[in-house]
Amino acid sequence: MRRELSRKPTLANPLPFLRGWSRNPVAVGWPFATSYWTARRLALATLAAAVPGDGHVLELGPGTGPTTQALIELGCPAARIVVVERDGELCRLLERRFAGLCVVQGDALRLREVLGRAGIGRACAVLSGLPMRTVAPADAARCYRDAFRAMPPGGAIIQYTYGFRPSVDPDAGGLKLEATFLGREWRNMPPMAIWRYRLPAHHGNRAGDNAARTMPAGPAHGRAIP
Ligand SMILES: C[S@@+](CC[C@H](N)C(=O)[O-])C[C@H]1O[C@@H](n2cnc3c(N)ncnc32)[C@H](O)[C@@H]1O
Repeated sequence: MRRELSRKPTLANPLPFLRGWSRNPVAVGWPFATSYWTARRLALATLAAAVPGDGHVLELGPGTGPTTQALIELGCPAARIVVVERDGELCRLLERRFAGLCVVQGDALRLREVLGRAGIGRACAVLSGLPMRTVAPADAARCYRDAFRAMPPGGAIIQYTYGFRPSVDPDAGGLKLEATFLGREWRNMPPMAIWRYRLPAHHGNRAGDNAARTMPAGPAHGRAIP
C-alpha cells in the first residue's frame, strides 16, 4: 500500500465547492474546501483507525472530494469507499471524478435509513466532514450511534471541525464517547481540528452489535485497507 501521496499539493478548482456553499451555506459550513494537507492528515487518521476486515470506509459530507482523493492516493481503493452527500450536484461531480466510488445521495444524519436503502452493511471506519456545530445535538448523537452500529468493536469516527472544542459532545445521547484530539492543521482556511471518537472499551459496542457479529476476522492490528 502506498503511504505517501503521489502528487504535490495543487490548488483545486474552488468553483464547484463555492456553488455547493451558495446553494446551502449552513449545510456546507464554509466556502472553502479542505486543503491538501488537511485531507492527507484526515485520510491517514482514518486509515490508521480502520478496523481490519472487509468493511467500507464511510465518508459523510465529502463535498467535492478532497478527502476522498487523499484516501485513494494513500492506498484505499475507491471501491472500498462509500460517501454520503446530501447535495445532488456534488454527488454527480463525485461520480464523475472517482470511478468505482459508491456515492449515496442522502441525509447522513439519518444514516441508518440511508445505509439500509443503499444496501451498505459494514464500515471499518467513518470520516465525517459534516458541519456538526450547526446540527442539533440529538441529530448528531443519532448519526454517531448509527455510525458505530455499522462498525465492529474498536471502530472510530474521525471528525474535523473549525472550533477549539469537539463539535459533537462526547456525552450526547448517552453514548459516553471517548473523544481524542489528534491535532490541528494550520495549512487550512480556517485552521482545522481533527478529532477521533470511539466507544469506551467497556461499552461492549452495544451500538455496533449487528456489525460485530458479521465482521470477519482480520490482522490483529494495523490498517485494514486494502
Ligand atoms: C464542511 S463541508 C466538507 C466538504 C469536504 N469534506 C471537504 O473536506 O472539503 C460539508 C459537506 O457536508 C455536506 N452535508 C452537510 N450536511 C449533510 C447531511 N446531513 N448529509 C449529507 N451531507 C451533508 C455538505 O453538502 C458539504 O458537502
